[in-house]
Amino acid sequence: MKKASIGIFDSGLGGLTVMKQLIHHLPNESFIFFGDTAHVPYGNKSPASIKEFTTAIIKFLNSHSVKLIIVACNTASAVAIKEMQRQSQVPIVGVINPLKSYLQANPQYLRIAVIGTQNTVKSKAYDHLIENTNSEITIFSKACPLFVPIIEEGLENHQIAKITAKEYLNDLIKHNIDLLILGCTHYPIIKNTIKKIIPENITIIDSATLATDSVISYLKTNKLLNNTARQINIYVSDEPKQFQKQTEKYLGQPISNVEKIILK
Ligand code: DGL
Repeated sequence: MKKASIGIFDSGLGGLTVMKQLIHHLPNESFIFFGDTAHVPYGNKSPASIKEFTTAIIKFLNSHSVKLIIVACNTASAVAIKEMQRQSQVPIVGVINPLKSYLQANPQYLRIAVIGTQNTVKSKAYDHLIENTNSEITIFSKACPLFVPIIEEGLENHQIAKITAKEYLNDLIKHNIDLLILGCTHYPIIKNTIKKIIPENITIIDSATLATDSVISYLKTNKLLNNTARQINIYVSDEPKQFQKQTEKYLGQPISNVEKIILK
């Protein structure tokens, strides 16, 4: 089991922010990554469609005998985590729950803003988790639906990203927040632009970092850490060439095998 790959998926590029951190911290792990590029963005699809997509992905990753599946997508974690856990033969780790231990370890944050896709914000998954962790915390949330297409187009440092970020965040920062949660795995890619327009005293935390910590501790606790050579296989549900280019740019390393696969 130790030698099995880690399964990981997202609608698109967002999952790479989680995989990049895992690659860095776990040099001997192999990964099977699935990017559901035919269906990106998940953020404004109906929960029923997202459940249909994730059912097929969980089946696909299980068929590759992975040891663990990381749902590197807040939207899927928010609307379909229970179904995925029921469907999978191997443990499923989402990107929202790891926030709990972070808040417990950092009780100083009492005015928290969460940004994410329309579905994530509407699901109130973060609100419930935060309220259950500490009822003293005041939560502000904001859907930022244009961030994902901007990132998928590679425009995260363009003027358009700055204008959009100002539009979304200006009101949010008026609430005197002390912590900003990037509740979408795409958003670490636009973090530098966000940083420039919010006050320096606001701490930014992203779900990719939180999920990485929780995966590492899961593998250690369950004695599942691999110690052999790594392999990374990437599958997408649409055009592989473009995704390969974006992956190489973001991971900063050559990626030879990006394969298109139609899931049923
Ligand atoms: N990166 C995903 C998330 O964390 C999905 C974004 C999207 O496809 O809209 O929510």
